[in-house]
Amino acid sequence: MKREQGLPLAYALERAEFYGLTFEVGPEVLIPRSETEFLVAQGDKWIKENRFKYKGLENGIQLLDLGCGSGCVGIALAHLHPTVKATLTDVSAPALEYAHENAKRHQVLERCDFRTGDWFSVLKRRERFHIILCNPPYVTDRDDPALAQAVKEHEPSLALFLDEDPQEFYFRLARKAVSHLYSGGMFAVEVGYDTAWPARCALNKVNALTRGREVHDFIGLERVIWGIRR
Ligand SMILES: C[S@@+](CC[C@H](N)C(=O)[O-])C[C@H]1O[C@@H](n2cnc3c(N)ncnc32)[C@H](O)[C@@H]1O
Repeated sequence: MKREQGLPLAYALERAEFYGLTFEVGPEVLIPRSETEFLVAQGDKWIKENRFKYKGLENGIQLLDLGCGSGCVGIALAHLHPTVKATLTDVSAPALEYAHENAKRHQVLERCDFRTGDWFSVLKRRERFHIILCNPPYVTDRDDPALAQAVKEHEPSLALFLDEDPQEFYFRLARKAVSHLYSGGMFAVEVGYDTAWPARCALNKVNALTRGREVHDFIGLERVIWGIRR
C-alpha cells in the first residue's frame, strides 16, 4: 500500500545497496545514491595513491565524512581500508543513529567516531584529517522538475535542499576544510548538475587548495569536485 503511495523501495525494505554493502535506511536519512559512489571512489583513489608515500599514514588514515546521513561514504571506505579511522558528522541526530547501526553492521564501529552538529562546528580547532569528503544537500530549486515526486515527498528536506548561494556555501565548506586538512590531504565534494561550476569556483578561491578538479559520472556529468591541501 505504502509503495502504491510512492514510498521508495529502499524505505519499504529498510535497506539500500551502496558500494557493494547493504545499509540500513529509513525516512530520516537520504537513500544512498549510486552517484555518491564516485565520491567514495575518489577517496579510495587518494588512499591507494598515497598510502605508501605519505609519511605517517601507516598509523591510520583520518577521514571526515561531513553530513554522513546513513554513513555510507565513511563506512564504505572504513570497510575497504582497515587503517581508516572515520569521523562521521551530521546535524541530524536520527541520521547518526543509522550511521552508528551501519558501522556496527559492517564491523567498523571501533574505528568510527560520531558527532552531531552543524558542519565543522563539531570539530576541535586543531583536529586534522587526511581526507574530507562531503555529499551536502545541493538541490537549489525546491520546485526543480528534475526532482522525482517520491524524492520530494519522502526523503528528508534537510538532506536535499540548499537554500543559499551554492558558490558561497561551497566556499565556506572549502575554506573551513583546509584548516582541518594535513598538507597533501584531499577535500572532495559531491555536486549536482547545476552546482559543479559554483563548487569549482569556490575551491579555486581557496589559496591553500590546488585548483579544483573533477570526476565525471557514467553519463559525463561532473559529480565530484576535489582539491589537495598545499
Ligand atoms: C545529501 S545528504 C548525504 C547523506 C550521505 N552522506 C549520503 O551520501 O547518502 C546530506 C546530509 O547533510 C546533512 N546536513 C544538512 N545540513 C547540515 C548541517 N548544517 N550540518 C551538518 N550536516 C548537515 C543532512 O542531514 C544529510 O544527512
